[in-house]
Amino acid sequence: MDKYVINGGRKLYGTLEISGAKNAAVAIIPAVLMVNGRCRLENLPQISDTDKLLQILTLMGAKVDFISPGTVDVDCSDVYLSDKIFPLTRQIRASYYLIGSMLGRFGKARTTMPGGCNFGVRPIDQHVKGMKALGVSVNIARGLIDAEAGNGLRGAHIYLDKVSVGATINVMIAAVMAKGRTVIENVAREPHIVDLANFLNSMGADIRGAGTDVIKVRGVESLHGGTYSLIPDQIEAGTYMAAVAGAGGSVRINNVIPRHLECISAKLREMGVEVEEYGDAITVRREGPLERVNVKTQPYPGFPTDMQPQITTVLCMAQGTSIVTEGVWDNRYKYVNELRKMGAEIQVSGKTAIIEGGRRLTGAPVAACDLRAGAAMVVAGLCAEGTTVVEDVVFIERGYEDMVGKLRSLGADIIAVSEPDPRMEFASRPRLIG
Ligand code: EPU
Repeated sequence: MDKYVINGGRKLYGTLEISGAKNAAVAIIPAVLMVNGRCRLENLPQISDTDKLLQILTLMGAKVDFISPGTVDVDCSDVYLSDKIFPLTRQIRASYYLIGSMLGRFGKARTTMPGGCNFGVRPIDQHVKGMKALGVSVNIARGLIDAEAGNGLRGAHIYLDKVSVGATINVMIAAVMAKGRTVIENVAREPHIVDLANFLNSMGADIRGAGTDVIKVRGVESLHGGTYSLIPDQIEAGTYMAAVAGAGGSVRINNVIPRHLECISAKLREMGVEVEEYGDAITVRREGPLERVNVKTQPYPGFPTDMQPQITTVLCMAQGTSIVTEGVWDNRYKYVNELRKMGAEIQVSGKTAIIEGGRRLTGAPVAACDLRAGAAMVVAGLCAEGTTVVEDVVFIERGYEDMVGKLRSLGADIIAVSEPDPRMEFASRPRLIG
């Protein structure tokens, strides 16, 4: 029932810190299951998806100690399979990485079909294809996934039919403990895939080629503990870059890898936004009008689909007509209905959105349809005249650490409101929580 209330129209000024990458964290935490010994994870984002994955490991016998904000020790020396994880695995997308890591650890896996954002059909056929090539039998029935490597995991040559972040990660995780050599072709190249490979290699795995379109894995007998610090979140940084582009102002964004942001920075520059890069920081400044652009989302190093709702929102304010083409998901424009409530003029046809720019958005009650759509509603609220209420922020909190606190530190007028449960009779007034 929590929501954000935003009084828009204020420019953003100041400095903010980016947290660790969500999509690296949600792959690395399941992979820890294969490690015999204590793993210290640093720069871990404090978001509900990572909390749930750590709870899942706990239910499987792992010892999890929170050392300080963003630093967690996980010891998987004594783990086992457990059906108690099912209510949690159903809630998050990344729970399917447990298939690869359970196979690596136990030679078998038992979990549910994953949850996550709804962008239309989200098949896992490429994950299954990769597992089968490694000698695994996979049975999916009544929402449960049972997989078993009867004769152990065996290295194989695998060609993925589709560039898939999830399948690349899952097959790479399983291949770490397979006998012999695995070659995976046509893989995704996202920064968090490289981060996962670096994590696994630092624990004793032998993975080469992550970041190119062929990954080669030589199987090892076991992984040992160690300390690993996650990369910063490319999409969190991109979201704040979009917020400054839309609302105007000047912000320094620390703890980023500017190379990971190049496709976003280039597009914002084309729109008339100043972006300057430093070693591990960037500054974003926008005072003048925004220019129209066309955007097509693609796998890395293309423009990320996870920035599509945020850039579409900013383009509502640009001069002229922009065209956005979604190149990854079949159905990622559900949030457009919410933007229309704020005065946006956007026509959607299939994977294309045509945005009639030059609009000043006006505040309205809107909902976060999913994680990035929710972030886009916050960006819209910051740019809009008047008050915007964003409902269902539970989606946003899956992937953004302290979004309200970070925006408030830049001068935004945004608060999180916790509404009491209407079923409770003493419920009468909203409670401010930040
Ligand atoms: N696909 C298949 N078969 C498969 C797997 C994927 O056909 O077996 C298709 C999908 O339908 C889609 C395309 O391949 O059309 C790409 O899907 P991919 O597997 O790359 O996506 P994912 O692994 O399910 C991850 C991120 C998403 C992000 C996409 C694309 C995680 C947990 N999720 O999803 O992130 O949109 O990659 O970059 O890492 C988000 O963070 O908001 C988010 C949704």
